[in-house]
Amino acid sequence: MSTIVQYTENGDLDRLSVADREAPDAAAGQVRVHVRYAGLNPVDWKILGGAFGPVQGTAGNGTDFSGVIDQVGEGVEGWKPGELVFGGHGAGAQAEHLVLDDPAQSLHRVPKGLGLDTAGGLFITGRTAIAGIRAISPAEGETVYVSGASGGVGVIAAQLAVNLGARVIGSASEANHGLLRSLGVEPVAYGDGLADRLRSLAPDGIQAAYSTQDASEIELLLGLGVPADRINAIGAGPRAAELGVHADGTAHARQEDLDWLAQAIAYAHVIAPVERVFAVDEVRESYRFLKEEHPAGKVLLRFEAAPLSEEQRAALRS
Ligand SMILES: NC(=O)c1ccc[n+]([C@@H]2O[C@H](COP(=O)([O-])OP(=O)(O)OC[C@H]3O[C@@H](n4cnc5c(N)ncnc54)[C@H](OP(=O)(O)O)[C@@H]3O)[C@@H](O)[C@H]2O)c1
Repeated sequence: MSTIVQYTENGDLDRLSVADREAPDAAAGQVRVHVRYAGLNPVDWKILGGAFGPVQGTAGNGTDFSGVIDQVGEGVEGWKPGELVFGGHGAGAQAEHLVLDDPAQSLHRVPKGLGLDTAGGLFITGRTAIAGIRAISPAEGETVYVSGASGGVGVIAAQLAVNLGARVIGSASEANHGLLRSLGVEPVAYGDGLADRLRSLAPDGIQAAYSTQDASEIELLLGLGVPADRINAIGAGPRAAELGVHADGTAHARQEDLDWLAQAIAYAHVIAPVERVFAVDEVRESYRFLKEEHPAGKVLLRFEAAPLSEEQRAALRS
């Protein structure tokens, strides 16, 4: 049998259930991944809630995953069983056995030095961070503001800007300020008084910004004199375009961006912290944790590994 997270009605987290099904097989042209980790993203509960339209029939949940290829369909070239991979599957990645139609588009190899757990939470955040940083193109010596710099997207975006030589100010709740400092990011508290705190931290102005929050933050940044074409906003929906700022997110990334990021993490140029891993049976609690507990980095679901092979057991015993 094979475990899957699914739902049949839009609503709150209690709509999510964990079911068993027959493991699907890879047909010609397909690859099957035995999923080990599946990263959670805020968009998952927005989709579950119906923000992108009503659910049709039974829907899978989540997009990010990592695991091991365990079947390769006829005619597939370039992938083989046993390879460690990660990627995104918009039709529901929280499934123990994931069959992918287009491996070249949906899979990336896990490079030496990158943990399978970290890789399992990279697809949406990594693509979104790179696309948005590219849109605002921080230059050496510029002061750049990144909001939600302790979150999945922000923690990567802030470090990309640091790597480009910018001075980076990142917002987060107090408990996460130590993490930001350890990554070379100057922390600032969000909430009332943010504009004044930014003015005093950057009296000569902020040249570019990556906003992960709602449209009121874009207005605040424009009010501080950050040029509209140097702001990227991913949490403001259509208001971003109305306010004339970039809204480059996961859809704007290039296929090769995640391979680049995976290498940068493997070599520790970028740290992608994982705050907590939940067993798949705890899926509702895992989303509650992400929503309410201000994690410093990603929250993941873990699926059971396939049993050791006879050869592996024999080697362990001998
Ligand atoms: N357009 C796209 O392609 C795209 C892609 C990915 C994400 N997004 C959106 O971008 C947003 C961030 O995603 P994420 O994955 O980074 O989320 P996340 O991991 O949940 O991180 C949220 C961040 O926001 C901070 N935060 C919480 N409440 C805040 C407040 N009232 N004011 C300012 N900051 C606050 C958190 O700080 P503390 O935890 O330290 O309190 C944390 O750093 C979400 O709305 C998501 O849906 C859009």
